[in-house]
Amino acid sequence: MIIAVSGTPGTGKTEVARLLAALLDYSYIDLNELCEHAGLISGVDRARDAKLVDTNKLKTLHVSDNAVVDGHLAHYLKADVYVILRANPDVVRQRMEQRGWNPKKVGENVEAELIGVCSVEARELWDNVMDVDTSTLMPQKAARMIYNWIMRKRFANDPIDWTLKGYEP
Ligand SMILES: Nc1ncnc2c1ncn2[C@@H]1O[C@H](COP(=O)(O)OP(=O)(O)OP(=O)(O)O)[C@@H](O)[C@H]1O
Ligand SMILES: [Mg+2]
Repeated sequence: MIIAVSGTPGTGKTEVARLLAALLDYSYIDLNELCEHAGLISGVDRARDAKLVDTNKLKTLHVSDNAVVDGHLAHYLKADVYVILRANPDVVRQRMEQRGWNPKKVGENVEAELIGVCSVEARELWDNVMDVDTSTLMPQKAARMIYNWIMRKRFANDPIDWTLKGYEP
């Protein structure tokens, strides 16, 4: 299987994807590196300090089997399961501020998490999408929970809506 792990920055993709790959005995793939090797980086958005990737090309990018792919665009890849890590927008804000990101970049990503951009995009494209709330889960626990769901062939759930969980922007 190919498992795509996507989500807003600061939701814990890298840690959870590495742990999940170890549990499954799969390889861990950093989508950024894969895009660089495949020549899919078309430039840099200087204002956002972000690499530009052609998401249409991602849909046809070949990924070797038995892999967990980590990246906030991983939900564009053709995969068997899409794990979208979510975290309360306040938690996302705190984690990004800790990284010293500028307020504009933090604000844009907090908004993206509030709307659930990665989850919405993934669900528009594919089945087998699951949202996982990592706000209060340690990465080990999150990875174990996802592993158990995959073992039980539970590949989808309802999207998380922070406003229904009491979040007030
Ligand atoms: N469940 C968690 N509980 C507490 N802290 C966490 C959790 N998950 C991640 N963190 C911390 O939050 C920060 C961001 O995590 P991480 O780098 O894994 O996120 P990411 O989703 O991979 O972000 P990016 O998209 O920028 O690569 C790290 O400092 C990490 O230690
Ligand atoms: Mg990461």
